[in-house]
Amino acid sequence: MSRRIRMAGTLLAASALTMGALTGVASAQGDSGRAAAAKVDNPYSGAKVYVNPDWSAKAAAEPGGSKISNQPTGVWLDRIAAINGTGGAMGLRTHLDQALQQSGGSPTVVQLVVYDLPGRDCAALASNGELGPTEIDKYKTQFIDPIASILSESKYANSNLRIVTTIEIDSLPNLVTNTGSRPTATPQCDTMKANGNYVKGVGYALNKLGAIGNVYNYVDAGHHGWIGWDDNFNPTAQVLKEAATAEGSTVDKVAGIIVNTANYSALEENNFTVNDSVNGTTVRQSKWVDWNKYVDELSFAQAFRQELVNVGFPSNIGALIDTSRNGWGGSARPSGPGAKTDVDTYVNGGRYDRRIHIGNWCNQAGAGLGERPKTAPASGIDAYVWMKPPGESDGSSSEIPNDEGKGFDRMCDPTYTGNPRNGNNPSGALANAPVSGHWFSAQFQELLKNAYPAL
Ligand code: BGC
Repeated sequence: MSRRIRMAGTLLAASALTMGALTGVASAQGDSGRAAAAKVDNPYSGAKVYVNPDWSAKAAAEPGGSKISNQPTGVWLDRIAAINGTGGAMGLRTHLDQALQQSGGSPTVVQLVVYDLPGRDCAALASNGELGPTEIDKYKTQFIDPIASILSESKYANSNLRIVTTIEIDSLPNLVTNTGSRPTATPQCDTMKANGNYVKGVGYALNKLGAIGNVYNYVDAGHHGWIGWDDNFNPTAQVLKEAATAEGSTVDKVAGIIVNTANYSALEENNFTVNDSVNGTTVRQSKWVDWNKYVDELSFAQAFRQELVNVGFPSNIGALIDTSRNGWGGSARPSGPGAKTDVDTYVNGGRYDRRIHIGNWCNQAGAGLGERPKTAPASGIDAYVWMKPPGESDGSSSEIPNDEGKGFDRMCDPTYTGNPRNGNNPSGALANAPVSGHWFSAQFQELLKNAYPAL
């Protein structure tokens, strides 16, 4: 997984707004049992959220881990084999059966990450996947169709489960920022833009999964330190619209967006706002903000949600924010604003997010658990979620052979000095990390230690 970055820009307004998620239609799935309930506005409202026993056991086995091992986390369908279960991990049916048990008959959200596009992770290597750039048919028939067919089984489709599907992390934002004449472009992203297979794959997934009565699709929209610049903001909304209307899908198949998935961007920076200035210089000119229009995830999620409504999505779409690793607590957390000497001193002294550069995305040193999962925490936000399971690596810090299609990305190497996507800065990654998705005990411990709110 990779979460890419930037491009300074000009202007474009976007106001924060209200509301929860989804439109929808009841769908008569299956042949027996009671009819599936109509889709609700916010699937998290009045619902429990499924705790993944696989993750929970790993967390509980860590010193101090039982403080969080009962939290709900995302179930990643990150390759075809994950549908039936891989390497001792449960498959989709087993998760759904477990969720039915946990539900005890009450509405229960199951959080799935649908993540196997052809040519996946085109701007990085750590989460390159199993499908080559042209394998769109395989994606449809061997990945999306089997998932849709399991979810459509009467036992699940006509149950109290509410299936939240987060669709293809990083893919559509990569088409905007890492293509064409941008200095951040990669040949792989240019290929995926030219062949249209990200857009087609996302459209196909939205259409197929969204047709199921109790499935709620949330499309990935990057994070503020990637899409918050004016050059990226509206263009990303346009690409999401293009994908949501591709392959037979319509915007009504979209319940909302998810932001900050597996990223580290702070939820709220309370010590400065984007409107502040120091000695007449706007903080947008600071090195950290670098002309971005947003300085934190909550303001970005609300504004981007509204931008999607502006380009034609239903007015009641909602946003999810992944708060699994954006806490930035611990002893280094600033207790107040920085000194008003100049914009850099002011911003750097006050910001919670202590990354070296906001484009850094791999196993960040100093990060902590963020807000615990929570329903309808703010206007326009359906939930804070832990979609990235804390303790699972973002990528290996050196080359490790594997059969998952995962490459070695030097953004996960603490000795790396960067590339245009992180302003040629050090990676800020923890050392000795395993391949992405594998358990990384040292990171888990650091996340506990630096949790904010504290545990
Ligand atoms: C990896 C997936 C993994 C997920 C959750 C991603 O970066 O590519 O394989 O399931 O993270 O940890």
